[in-house]
Amino acid sequence: MTAFLQIQRLRKTYDDVVAIDHVSLDVRKGEFMTFLGPSGSGKSTTLYIVAGFQEPTEGRVLLDGKPLLSVAPNKRNIGMVFQRYTLFPHLTVGENVAFPLRVRGRPDAEIKAKVEKMLKLVHLSECRDRMPAQLSGGQQQRVAIARALAYDPPVLLMDEPLSALDKKLREEIQLELRRIHQETGVTILYVTHDQEEALRLSDRIAVFNKGCIEQVGTGEELYANPASRFVASFIGNSNFLPVKVMKNSGGRMNGVFPNGHEIASDALNPALAAGDEGALMIRPEQMRLSSLQSASGASGTSGTAGLPVTVRDITYLGDAMHYAVATPWQQEISIRMPAAHRHDSGIAIGAQALVDWDARDGRLFALA
Ligand SMILES: Nc1ncnc2c1ncn2[C@@H]1O[C@H](COP(=O)(O)OP(=O)(O)OP(=O)(O)O)[C@@H](O)[C@H]1O
Ligand SMILES: [Mg+2]
Repeated sequence: MTAFLQIQRLRKTYDDVVAIDHVSLDVRKGEFMTFLGPSGSGKSTTLYIVAGFQEPTEGRVLLDGKPLLSVAPNKRNIGMVFQRYTLFPHLTVGENVAFPLRVRGRPDAEIKAKVEKMLKLVHLSECRDRMPAQLSGGQQQRVAIARALAYDPPVLLMDEPLSALDKKLREEIQLELRRIHQETGVTILYVTHDQEEALRLSDRIAVFNKGCIEQVGTGEELYANPASRFVASFIGNSNFLPVKVMKNSGGRMNGVFPNGHEIASDALNPALAAGDEGALMIRPEQMRLSSLQSASGASGTSGTAGLPVTVRDITYLGDAMHYAVATPWQQEISIRMPAAHRHDSGIAIGAQALVDWDARDGRLFALA
């Protein structure tokens, strides 16, 4: 099955600045695809090439199997919503939504019906005759979404559409966006640098770094099996423990931490051989902390048990406890456990404790 939207080896340079470097991506029909990455990583550039606002230096884009880049931007039938509200200030909400239909010369009766339908979709029917200035920021952005969808574009592009809104409003509109996506089945390319937003909204996420896509996958895939240290640190929180590899074959990695503590792990990485330095990643919620007393005799999980640490800080988070602990080599690591564990009286600030984790949960990366 060919993808609905195919982005193939796109490259864009400005003199000696490489904005994006051979970006390729297949997007399925109806998919919610998010571009996630730090500032300057090439997310907007890729989106603007698809929209037709910029021309690539190399590469091509196919929509439904047909070349898109040779089509004039205003003939591409692609909806676009930007970070800042871009409503026409002198037109009512209804006229804003009607605008793309008027430009296309649709009959009045059709426009009227469509405007009603779109305003209903974004839950703003009662605001039809207001001016944009009489709406909140979140309402204005919903009108922008209604306008972008009014002429049934097969693809909707959104460049950080919620970043100007406060957190509560953002979360509200995220829910609306999910519903609108489900109801319309439109294919969405969505840009954000907020990982929580990406996880909440997307079918799949493309992680951008320095003009390249480092990995594409569902949020779960990226979280569980990050392809690089960059992806691991960009999605979720992680601890990276320095480890010297002693053996890295036969489904088992044996290594040693800087203090001489030996560990075994299922984490393999073909790029690393015996003698190499690497970083073993373990997520905070995959680590367990136990006091010296309660741990005695109860340890022994797959050869990773019992890294001695000093408890530096304890934070109660309602459903969870967060512990900041220092390793023997003075690295601070994070541990997150269900709040029930706070009754382990041996775990107090300044106390010695033991950390362990399951051998299956570690991921091994080359250093930096
Ligand atoms: N007109 C331009 N001239 C020169 N360099 C540019 C131009 N537009 C973008 N760039 C560069 O291309 C790179 C990618 O920019 P882009 O806007 O795609 O990043 P982004 O991922 O959208 O970042 P942000 O999260 O800050 O919006 C950046 O290094 C940027 O400085
Ligand atoms: Mg941008």
